[in-house]
Parts: sequence; structure tokens; C-alpha cells
Amino acid sequence: MVYEKIEWEPITSALLGIWRYRRMLPPVGDGDIVSLGEGGTPLINLDNVSKTVSIRTYGKFEGANPTGSFKDRGMTVAISLVKKNGIRKVVVASTGNTAASVAAYAARAGVDAYVLLPYGKVAVGKLAQALFHGAKTIAVKANFDVALQVIMRLVKEEKVVYPLNSFNQFRLEGQKTLAFELYEQLGGMPGTVIVPVGNAGNISAIWKGFKELLDAGVEGEMPTMIGVQAEGASPLASMWERGLEEPLFTDKPETIASAIRIGRPVNWPKAVRAVRESGGRFISVSDEEIAKAHRFLARNEGLGVEPASAASLAGLFKLSSQGASLREPVVLVLTGHSLKDPDSMMVGANLGEPLEPEMVEKVILG
Ligand SMILES: Cc1ncc(COP(=O)(O)O)c(C=O)c1O
Repeated sequence: MVYEKIEWEPITSALLGIWRYRRMLPPVGDGDIVSLGEGGTPLINLDNVSKTVSIRTYGKFEGANPTGSFKDRGMTVAISLVKKNGIRKVVVASTGNTAASVAAYAARAGVDAYVLLPYGKVAVGKLAQALFHGAKTIAVKANFDVALQVIMRLVKEEKVVYPLNSFNQFRLEGQKTLAFELYEQLGGMPGTVIVPVGNAGNISAIWKGFKELLDAGVEGEMPTMIGVQAEGASPLASMWERGLEEPLFTDKPETIASAIRIGRPVNWPKAVRAVRESGGRFISVSDEEIAKAHRFLARNEGLGVEPASAASLAGLFKLSSQGASLREPVVLVLTGHSLKDPDSMMVGANLGEPLEPEMVEKVILG
């Protein structure tokens, strides 16, 4: 059992969130930890999904993190190190969730945050969070990949700003804690983990977490990792389908799942290694399949996730319809909350005309 091999921080620890796994994280003194209680997200039994695909399936609901996405796991570690090292200014390019997360954690740490967002391509909830928490928010007339290149150039030439994109190893260190939680919640290793992939950091981080568990002497086998991309932004899935060695990058990524609208994933080598080593694969799903899965979770499981997160269920539905055999239990990583993207929830929804109060009874009682 894990508890015999690793000295976890006791449950009574005053430490918040993922800092319970402190011994597996980069060293930070108590006074420098910047935490909002991230992690500890629910692992939810998806009964209706399980029945539909005849595979035992759970959803790891990362929308329950403080700013509503998995990004908080990495941001608490990165911003704590920023505080420890006395850094005053951080920068990030984002499809939205990283911006929301850095804005909140930087506010808590009293650090200046600059966030670059692709203009017109960020879900309104995420944009509102970045502005609300006081990040210096810059809309860029370009897609995410180009905005990230701006950051990389800036960081190379200007050493006083600190980048917090997912090539920042400390963010990935925090994100790996999802694997530790899954192990504890399931009482063992999952069979298959399905992850929506954009810049490919999360899938790499989760894989690293499982590896560290086994290295620490935990019993079990590594899970199969499946990375899901949207068809219009699928450099890794296209590579996989064609049996190539390098991604088929695209300069015009397009999908309704704005969080994974990324054509040049910077973490691709790590992600490909993880998926290969695990015996898994990358697949792509259409926007229509994403929208269907999005609605399925809302209507059949009561779970509100954002479109990018629903890509993992769309991937499971697709694999199941192709007759793929998957190791159980399957865990869908549900990366962000539905409130991030209210527009996506309103697609096909119709409130109708307002009624006079005396008409309401008639409608309800028929
Ligand atoms: C909701 C959501 N899902 C999935 C991803 C993809 O994660 P990664 O870029 O680490 O592959 C992101 C990244 O922004 C995201 O915000």
C-alpha cells in the first residue's frame, strides 16, 4: 500500500490542497506556499456513461478546483516558487484557464501577472476571471501558438519576467498530483486514463505522477494513457493515425473547444513518450462529437464541464463504437467547469417568452 512506502503529510496537516503531497513536490518553505486549497477534486462514478459503453467509468472533476480548472494544481506550485525566489512579474499566454488561474494566484501572492489572450477566442468566464482578479490582460490579434512565441521571445531577451506556460516544469510538478489522488480514490491504479490534449502538458504530468508512484514502491501497473484532440486542432492525433514520428502542426487550429485550440503543442515530445510507453494512443473527435458528449454529461450525469473537457468522453464514445477494448476502470479527466464557457451551455437552449405570473400555474399543472 502507498502509505507504507511514502510518508504522506498527515490528513490533519494545516497545509492546504495538493501540498499534502509535499514530499513529492519541489521544496518550498511554509511561509512561501501560495494555496487556495486546490486538488482533492471528486472522482465521480459515471453510471450512465458506464452503462452506455459497458465499461466501468469515472470522471475526475477538475472543475471543482478553486478557479474551476486543473490549472490550479500547477499554479500553486509555480507561484509559490515565484514567491520563494522574490520574482515580481510573471507572464503567460493562454487559451483562458491558465490566465484565470495565474490571475488568482498572483493576486494572492501580490505579484504582477501579464496574460496574453488570443483576441475573440477566449470563453467569457475565463476572460472575466483574468480581469476580475486584476491580471494585466492583453488581447493579441493572433492565435494561442503565436502568443506563446511572443512570450518565449520576451523571456529569452528580458530576464526580469518569469514565464508560467506549461513548459514551466513547476506547473507540471503540481499537475502530476492528479495521479496520486486517483490512486488513493480508487484504492489502486486506474486501467485507462483519457485526457483532453492541447499543449500536451497535462497528459505528460499525469503520466509522471503515476511513474513516481511506482518508483516509490506502490503496487500495480501503469495505466494506458489516451490523449484526445479536437479534429480541427489535432497535430498529435494526425501524427498517430499516419504512423509519423513528428506532429502534423497546424497554423490554423479551429474547434468549439477553445481550451484545446492549439496547433503547435510545445510539450509534444513528453506527451508522445508517455502515450507510447503506456501502450495508449492519440485520437481526434469532431466538434459535433464534443458537443454531444458535453450535453450527455449535463443531461445524464448532472455534470457541467466545459467543451474541451467533454472531449475525453467523446473519445471514449468513439473508441467504444470502434470496439476498442479498454482496461478498467476508465477515468475521464474532466478538466474544467461548465461556468467557464456559458455560451457553450446556451447552444440550443431557449428560455422562451416571459409569462404573466397567473399563467405559470397553467404551464406547470398542464
Ligand atoms: C479545460 C482544458 N482542458 C484541457 C486542456 C489541455 O491541457 P494541456 O494544454 O496541458 O494539454 C486545457 C488547456 O488549456 C484546458 O484549459
